[in-house]
Amino acid sequence: MKKHQVIATISSLAIGIVFIGRIATAAPQDDPKGKAPFEENCRKCHGVRGIPPKTMKAKFPKIATFDADFFTKHTQDSIVTILTKGKNEDMKSFKDKLSHDQMEEVAKYMRTFVAK
Ligand code: HEC
Repeated sequence: MKKHQVIATISSLAIGIVFIGRIATAAPQDDPKGKAPFEENCRKCHGVRGIPPKTMKAKFPKIATFDADFFTKHTQDSIVTILTKGKNEDMKSFKDKLSHDQMEEVAKYMRTFVAK
């Protein structure tokens, strides 16, 4: 290999590494922190984007749909309080499963279901 080829190879490798680094650091911003705990703990009953599946609606007639109307009635804090204390029989407290910070993140993430 000639010297200029070696330099060309090294510099294209370096550009490649920087590029991959950019992708890796950009990913978490696209994926809000509350997403994973929501999918793990809430999705089963509340649906991927806050619309409960029919089976859950049938099982829990009172289950909430997280739509724009819901968020006019529930503040960030009131959602965190529900997650901490639970509500009625079927909406359990998540204080043993989620940290306070995670509850805040989950409550924030839920708002993205309606945010445009
Ligand atoms: C076992 C099913 C189930 C799971 C899992 C579940 N929920 Fe619920 N959730 C319910 C039901 C049922 C209600 C309606 C409770 C009621 O009003 O009696 C409810 C209500 C709510 C409400 C509205 C309470 C109100 O004041 O109207 C919020 C907010 C909520 N859930 C958030 C969550 C979040 C966030 C998670 C995950 C950390 C979660 N839920 C997991 C079943 C579930």
